[in-house]
Amino acid sequence: MKKLIVGNWKMNGSLASNAELLGAVLRQLGAGPWGSDVAVCASAPYLAQLQSLLQGSGVAWGAQDVSAHESGAYTGEVSAAMLKDFGCRYAIVGHSERRQYHHEHGELVAAKARRALDMGITPIVCVGETLAEREAGYTEVVVKRQLAAVVHLLGHCSSEIVVAYEPVWAIGTGLTATPEQAQAVHAVLRAQLRVATTHADRNRILYGGSMTPANAAELLRQPDIDGGLIGGASLKAEDFVQIVNASAPVTV
Ligand code: 13P
Repeated sequence: MKKLIVGNWKMNGSLASNAELLGAVLRQLGAGPWGSDVAVCASAPYLAQLQSLLQGSGVAWGAQDVSAHESGAYTGEVSAAMLKDFGCRYAIVGHSERRQYHHEHGELVAAKARRALDMGITPIVCVGETLAEREAGYTEVVVKRQLAAVVHLLGHCSSEIVVAYEPVWAIGTGLTATPEQAQAVHAVLRAQLRVATTHADRNRILYGGSMTPANAAELLRQPDIDGGLIGGASLKAEDFVQIVNASAPVTV
């Protein structure tokens, strides 16, 4: 399975800096196809810019959230149909920053994933434990509960999602899960997907949390780590491209 490297720019960027960053990323990546699939996820106002700058480049793009509602009186929300209108490929759902600051819960995250899938957009479903949960020995319980809400709603369509394991304590902190810690959780998530769908071999499970050019290769070498969801390092073209290169088998 081809690895998938996704940049999550979070609430960063401007028309000028996005153009500069993407220009540098495309230049440094060189002509595709690359050994891995590559995408970037920007804030909603910039998605049209991504659509135009990335057209024909081989780099896909996505949103950082999507509404759980189809349409109507939901001020401030962006629907899956609107994203699809622009050719959006991915939508991150249930990022820990949304769970933490916007009180998103399992059923809501699942409904968002469903809306995305209904429009042919691949949801990137984030799961992950806090430091307190890890220290209390609840890591497996927490991530399984978070994923269960989604697979319960999606059923056999669960094979169409991307899952991202992002330990909350590793996000933006410079603390990365060790390859062994990450692999152990990924294996649990893989087993859970196998129960939910007969096509779990299609699911890509990404690791996210302080992934950098220095630790990417080792993490991405783990059997159940199928790519990365990159925050801080995706804002630096050189770092992001180095992670993409670390993810792909070198072909001569
Ligand atoms: P960092 O790579 O900045 O730790 O962020 C990870 C993340 O939250 C990606 O969604």
